Amino acid sequence: MSKPLLFTPFRMRGVVASNRAVVSPMVQYRATDGMVNDFHLVHLGKFALGKFGIVFTENCAIEPRGRVTEGDLGLWDDSQIDSHKRLTRFLKQEGSLAATQITHSGRKGSTPRSFDKPGELGPKEAGWQRWQVVGPTELSAGEPYSPAPKQLAAAEIEEIVKKFGVAARRADAAGYDVIEIHGAHGYLLAQFLSPISNTRNDQYGGDRAGRMRFPLAAAKAVRTNWPEHKPMFIRVSAVDGAGGWDVEDTIAYAKELKAIGIDVVDTSSGGLTGLSTALPVKRSLGFQVPFAAAVKRGAEIPTMAVGLILDGPQAEAILQAGDADLIAIGRQALYDPFWALHAAQELGCDSDFEMWTPEYGWWLEKRKNNLRK
Ligand SMILES: Cc1cc2nc3c(=O)[nH]c(=O)nc-3n(C[C@H](O)[C@H](O)[C@H](O)COP(=O)(O)O)c2cc1C
Repeated sequence: MSKPLLFTPFRMRGVVASNRAVVSPMVQYRATDGMVNDFHLVHLGKFALGKFGIVFTENCAIEPRGRVTEGDLGLWDDSQIDSHKRLTRFLKQEGSLAATQITHSGRKGSTPRSFDKPGELGPKEAGWQRWQVVGPTELSAGEPYSPAPKQLAAAEIEEIVKKFGVAARRADAAGYDVIEIHGAHGYLLAQFLSPISNTRNDQYGGDRAGRMRFPLAAAKAVRTNWPEHKPMFIRVSAVDGAGGWDVEDTIAYAKELKAIGIDVVDTSSGGLTGLSTALPVKRSLGFQVPFAAAVKRGAEIPTMAVGLILDGPQAEAILQAGDADLIAIGRQALYDPFWALHAAQELGCDSDFEMWTPEYGWWLEKRKNNLRK
């Protein structure tokens, strides 16, 4: 039997992932001043012990006001680099590629953690907003605790573009192998793409080309400041969930991103307005895979599929169908940090526990033989 595609290495520029299972970015709200700490090392380190090919950190803000909450990781200051180094060293030592996601939350910043109960926080008027958030306009995201943004002037947009570039340089200095721009889920870049949130009439608004101008400039700044031999991803919301941006727009956008040198489009959806329960597509197994397939075929660019992908056979079927090149696992990795190793067992390509770190694998193989007797 030939090796499953999920466990076939994937080359991107000068970097090779040992397999195509990826830990999706997942914010944990455990940072102080944006620094990586023991929690992040253990939380993400266990996925490297679980032999995911690529392990993503959560979204890291490129400036303090670009955080979602005060507990988000950051790459906005050189003093944060060393804390990230400790993490990348460990991930790489265990055989995973170390990947990070850089972000600006825009009008979705300064908001509660997802599990905070609004009633316990007090009304917005009582001071939930901790810092002034910014956006394409003064329109808020429309969630109960969405703060009112200040509209960014053109010169401020150009400053943010530069900050994306500087954050990429810090990510390289910290030892990351892969960088991803968070351009999805209604955060700043997505706020500029959609005509629902971007009603500007300057060069950063108007038609699709105008609305794409800032996100493309940010992508270009990252590509310029990120080493040529290292791959760059971007996460997109293929549809914004509010009816302003659809798959055809995403394909046109992906073609421009490809021309800039983006290597993989990580294809998510939604998040622009309203409660997160207002979903753009019904959540069922692999609900966003059709978006990854449409972008891969429409823009002829590698894609990463994400969203309710639960086991090895499901992941393998997506790859075999040619719908995506990489498989991102979010909540299922929280449930099972050894997801990749278990998927390899399910797909019958690691019956001897050889993919496991030998300190575990040797014993598990021995136990298997004990059980056979
Ligand atoms: C706890 C948690 C935190 C998340 N944080 C981020 C994030 O920092 N950046 C991002 O792009 N997506 C984030 N997401 C979305 C996930 O990366 C993923 O796209 C989503 O959970 C769907 O995949 P799943 O069904 O495998 O969980 C988060 C999801 C969870 C559950």
